[in-house]
Amino acid sequence: MTAARTVLITGAGGQVGREAVDRFRAADWQVVAHDRSSLDVTRRGDVLEAVAAARPDAVLNLAAWNAVDQAETDEEAAFAVNAIAVRHLADASRRNAARFVHVSTDYVFDGTKDSPYGEWDRTNPQSAYGRSKEAGEQEVGPDQAIVRTSWVCGAHGSNLVKTVLRLAAASDQTLAFVTDQIGCPTMAADLAATLVTLVDDEHVGTFHVTNGGPVSWYEFVREILEAAGYPPERVRPIATAELDPPRPAPRPANSVLDGLALRLSGLPALRHHREALDELVAELQP
Ligand SMILES: NC(=O)c1ccc[n+]([C@@H]2O[C@H](COP(=O)([O-])OP(=O)(O)OC[C@H]3O[C@@H](n4cnc5c(N)ncnc54)[C@H](OP(=O)(O)O)[C@@H]3O)[C@@H](O)[C@H]2O)c1
Repeated sequence: MTAARTVLITGAGGQVGREAVDRFRAADWQVVAHDRSSLDVTRRGDVLEAVAAARPDAVLNLAAWNAVDQAETDEEAAFAVNAIAVRHLADASRRNAARFVHVSTDYVFDGTKDSPYGEWDRTNPQSAYGRSKEAGEQEVGPDQAIVRTSWVCGAHGSNLVKTVLRLAAASDQTLAFVTDQIGCPTMAADLAATLVTLVDDEHVGTFHVTNGGPVSWYEFVREILEAAGYPPERVRPIATAELDPPRPAPRPANSVLDGLALRLSGLPALRHHREALDELVAELQP
C-alpha cells in the first residue's frame, strides 16, 4: 500500500479553499488545511516553518486579497497577500521539494480583446487588484503551476449567487446588472475538482480553468433567478457607465478565459456553468 500524499492548502477558509479541502480528502490526499488564523501567508518565517513542518508533496495557495475596490486605495495590502506571500510560498515549496500551485484571475487581462483570452496572451491589468495578482504570477517558477479562474461562486463564503438569492427572497425590488461585462461563472466545487487533477498529475505552467458558457452579469443574474424559481424579469439590464456610484476599480469588459492549455494537455474542460449553477442553487435552497 502506498502512503497517502500530503497537500498543504492555504486560504482553506475561503470559498474555493473549503471545496478544495473536501475534494483532496475525497481523492485520498492527506490535507494540512491552513486558514488565515493558523497561517498568515504574508509572514515569511511562518510560511517557511509551516511548509517544513507539513513536509507536503504539494502546496496549493488559495489565500488572496480579493477586495477589488479597496485595493485601489490600499494597493500595498493587496500586494502583501497577492504578491509577496506567493514568493514565500513558492520558495518554501522549492526548499521542501513540494509542487506548488497558485490560483490567479481574469483581472490580469485588460478585457479589450474581442475573443476569449488564452494562457499565452499578454497580461495588462487595469486595477490595483489585477496588478497585485499579476505580480503574484511572476513569483511562480517554471516548475510550478498557475491556475487562472473567473467569477467564482460556491456554497461557502459570499458570492453573487448567494447575494441574488438573498435579495430576491427579501423583496420584490428589481435588480440592475450590467450587460457590457462578460465572463464565465465558475463553481468552486468544479474548480476544486480540476485543481485535484492538476496536482495529482503534477502539471506545471499556466492553465485557464472556468466553467463553460460566457454570459454578461445581467444574463447570469437572470439565470440565478430562473434557477431559484423567481421571474427572470426581476433584473433589468444596465451599462457599466450607469452604475451609480461608479465602482473605484475598473472591471475587464471581456473576462472570458479560454481553456486552451487544458485542451492541449488532453484534460477535460469543465461543464457548462448552467448545469453547475442549478446544482448550487438546489443546494442553497433545499
Ligand atoms: N472570487 C472570485 O470571483 C475569483 C475570481 C477569480 C480568481 N479568484 C481567485 O481564486 C482564489 C480563491 O479565491 P476565493 O474566491 O476562494 O476567495 P475568498 O473566499 O476570499 O478566500 C480567500 C481566503 O484567503 C484568506 N486570506 C486573506 N488574507 C490572508 C492572509 N494574509 N493569510 C492567509 N489567508 C488569507 C481569506 O481569509 P479572510 O476571509 O479571513 O480574509 C479567505 O479565507 C484567489 O486566488 C482569488 O484571487 C477568485
